[in-house]
Amino acid sequence: MIRAISYLQSSLRPLRSRSYTAQASSALREEVKLSVYRDDEYADVDWDKLGFGLTPADYMYEMKCSKDGEFREGELRPFGNIQLSPSSGVLNYGQGIYEGTKAYRKEDGKILLFRPEQNATRLKHGAERMLMPSPSVDQFIDAIKQTVLANKRWIPPPGKGSLYVRPLLIGSGPILGLGAAPEYTFLVYASPVRNYFKEGTAALNLYVEEEYVRAAPGGAGGVKSITNYAPVLKALTRAKDRGFSDVLYLDSIYKKYLEEASSCNIFIVKGKKISTPATKGTILKGITRKSVMEIATDQGYQVEERAVPVDELMEADEVFCTGTAVGVAPVGSVTYQSQRLQTSEICRKEFKTGNDSVCEELQKILVSIQTGFMEDKKGWVTEIH
Ligand code: COI
Repeated sequence: MIRAISYLQSSLRPLRSRSYTAQASSALREEVKLSVYRDDEYADVDWDKLGFGLTPADYMYEMKCSKDGEFREGELRPFGNIQLSPSSGVLNYGQGIYEGTKAYRKEDGKILLFRPEQNATRLKHGAERMLMPSPSVDQFIDAIKQTVLANKRWIPPPGKGSLYVRPLLIGSGPILGLGAAPEYTFLVYASPVRNYFKEGTAALNLYVEEEYVRAAPGGAGGVKSITNYAPVLKALTRAKDRGFSDVLYLDSIYKKYLEEASSCNIFIVKGKKISTPATKGTILKGITRKSVMEIATDQGYQVEERAVPVDELMEADEVFCTGTAVGVAPVGSVTYQSQRLQTSEICRKEFKTGNDSVCEELQKILVSIQTGFMEDKKGWVTEIH
């Protein structure tokens, strides 16, 4: 069905080049409601070439927090640059956190979100840690829904990927001395994506990093603070230059226990036992991690959250990673040069992947639930209109 008024189409298509004003915004809200695109229309994207690069969808959502700490009156606006004071809290002191969630298009055209309330509560915890006010769970979910529905044509066809949704909470107000920003902005933008790694669905090759650590006890490693990501770039880029897919970090004290990779959580499999590092403030409480643990328990595996020594990983049958962007990704090899053991020996261990692997079993179940192929008995999936 075409709900469009055709004259609006010509005014809306070049949205991204339009400058934004408050007046334009309320007109825009009306236009978005009219949904000028046909329900079955797709954006002009080569879906088979999608990776994890930014392909910005038409609209983003913006909500400002007033001085009393309340978020009010969020609205959609065309995707585009935002204005920030050079002395904003986020630019100067890194006061910012983000989330990542995905929307899927089902075969019958329905649009599904996966556990958005989990992202909402995680953002709240992260905001508390970074001394920021945050939107309520309902406001967060409403913002995600609005952003996804306004950008419906950017949701890839079934089986070709998903719409990655990126909520951001930043200290947008100006501050010079170190302190919490006087104003906050919540933004949500979206981009169609498929595989996170250039390897596509092929197994990853990880490098165990011993020089740089990702987080230390008492730090902010357990929340999705933007400050957790730039510091890993050096180790990540070095590893990528050497042909590895990602870096696996060790604990900051003993350099012995697994933490997580730069972009995802880590699991090891030995027989029917699946182990993953416990979340004690230095690693992210991944929503995919939590979902996979539940699925694995349902499938009869013994799932353990605990300290996992790197030596145990080197003896595992399988290793895999989980994350919203990454999904459930098999690890084909891990390379580790143990400085702790003071050997110069470089160990490279290969792991089982592919058909009949535990990773594939769990990945298939998760994706089937997320995309509506499998009945959602857990209440994880929300259909939106
Ligand atoms: C996600 O998985 O959503 C993340 O935020 C990881 C990021 C490095 C892409």
